[in-house]
Amino acid sequence: MAEEVLTLSQHLKVSGVAQDLRRLIVSFAYVSLDAQHHFPKYLRGAAGDKNKYGEAVARLDEWINGYYCDELVKTGLVRKIYSEELRQPLLGSPHAPFIVTIDPLDGSSNINTNNSFGTIMGIYRDDLPQAGRKLVAALYKLYGPLNTLVYSAGNGSHEFVKHYDGSGNAQFLLLAENVKLPVKGEVFGVGGDPLDWSPKFLKFAKDLFRVEKLKVRYSGTFVADFSQILHRGGIFAYPQTRSAPRGKLRLTYEAAPMAFILEQAGGKSWDGSRSLLDAKALDVDARTPLYMGNDYLIEKLKKALGKRG
Ligand code: F6P
Ligand code: MN
Repeated sequence: MAEEVLTLSQHLKVSGVAQDLRRLIVSFAYVSLDAQHHFPKYLRGAAGDKNKYGEAVARLDEWINGYYCDELVKTGLVRKIYSEELRQPLLGSPHAPFIVTIDPLDGSSNINTNNSFGTIMGIYRDDLPQAGRKLVAALYKLYGPLNTLVYSAGNGSHEFVKHYDGSGNAQFLLLAENVKLPVKGEVFGVGGDPLDWSPKFLKFAKDLFRVEKLKVRYSGTFVADFSQILHRGGIFAYPQTRSAPRGKLRLTYEAAPMAFILEQAGGKSWDGSRSLLDAKALDVDARTPLYMGNDYLIEKLKKALGKRG
């Protein structure tokens, strides 16, 4: 007899996730099942706008932001949405239980090369500013050859993959429960200009090849590179550089939710002083140096940089 595989909704229920949170995650997952289906309509031409960081907005960036924000508001479960693509937070239902952060399209430079990109979402009960440790759940979607969703509601990190049933209806089925980073890391990906890294960090990165024998894997999409670390172990970093002392990635939209998922999977995160879950920024758009991976590699990095934190 075929083994019974849990749907996302069943998994949330048997894991004892609070009912309102379950509804929000399932509603998001449900609309996200269809998102990829619409992508081809939004590939040609640029939106012509610049976002709040002065970066060109792709048409798909603009569409996917509207798609997810509208659907999240419609759930009636969201008080406010902080989106990387919105200048101001979007107000939902005033008495709704959740505050949501979203990076609607992570890895825009991979759209026209048809490489993987993703969506990152964080869910809080109290309004920002908050440290990532206050997240009640985080999830990411990876639109690759497979359409996957990973969530954590503080109950481990779990991966689901989109399937079609016999009637052509799509759903997320459990692929890997309680994912843990392998004990020994296999791959690393580091962003930024190596000539701009500090000499200590450069030496650390060289040792990842020479001493740790890791293989380099860097896609230009944080979600995709993170997925490699989650499954194969190793380290992903977008470090502080001389010209960008705050690195590139955003604490609220990118680093905090992914650190939540990572630490639930037994990995460690660091911003150069503390876990990325303990960092708190008053500015929702603040960047952060970012280091994520196996515990032993993060410890090695701290020693290499002469830090304790
Ligand atoms: O969201 C920012 C982002 O696109 C991440 O997905 C990715 O890790 C990083 O920027 C890539 O930056 P770069 O093009 O500098 O390597
Ligand atoms: Mn991003």
